[in-house]
Amino acid sequence: MSNLTIYREHPPAEPLGVFTEPADIARELAPIGVRFERVDASVALPDGAGQDAVLAAYQAVVDAEKKARGYNTVDVVRIRPDVDNVAQARQKFLSEHTHSEDESRIMVEGSGCFYLRAQGKVFQVVCTRGDLIRVPEGMKHWFDMGPAPLFAAIRFFIRPDGWVGHFTGETIAERFPKYAP
Ligand SMILES: [Fe+2]
Repeated sequence: MSNLTIYREHPPAEPLGVFTEPADIARELAPIGVRFERVDASVALPDGAGQDAVLAAYQAVVDAEKKARGYNTVDVVRIRPDVDNVAQARQKFLSEHTHSEDESRIMVEGSGCFYLRAQGKVFQVVCTRGDLIRVPEGMKHWFDMGPAPLFAAIRFFIRPDGWVGHFTGETIAERFPKYAP
């Protein structure tokens, strides 16, 4: 189930709040400029569906998101626990970083966990199938796919070749609980 846990940026690490209702998650994230909403596929989509089937099933919401933010490219990324480079894949965005464009995703299978740093707090958002999350450009964040990653997500880009992580060099991610679904 999707959920949001809000922490102070500095210890003590006792959560300030935990939310599980999508409307509550969206309301708590809106003030920091993060969009969160639940979206439905137009048809039941089997796990492992190919990119074209995934994009077709979510076409209406994909088109709306492209139009809203000027994205011109979408793809579907899929990570499974049995791929060779899974540890590397997890490590890649496990340290705090920013991007020079939005990180907009629709989770269409499995789950993953965003950690968003803003206003002296860290917002830990577990995303599951049917969640759309849009992290604005420049926001400090990291992403944990967990020790046995299993997810597929639609990704939106303005410049796919320009979508890289700019690492802040800060070790804040190490102070927070890892994602363990
Ligand atoms: Fe990122």
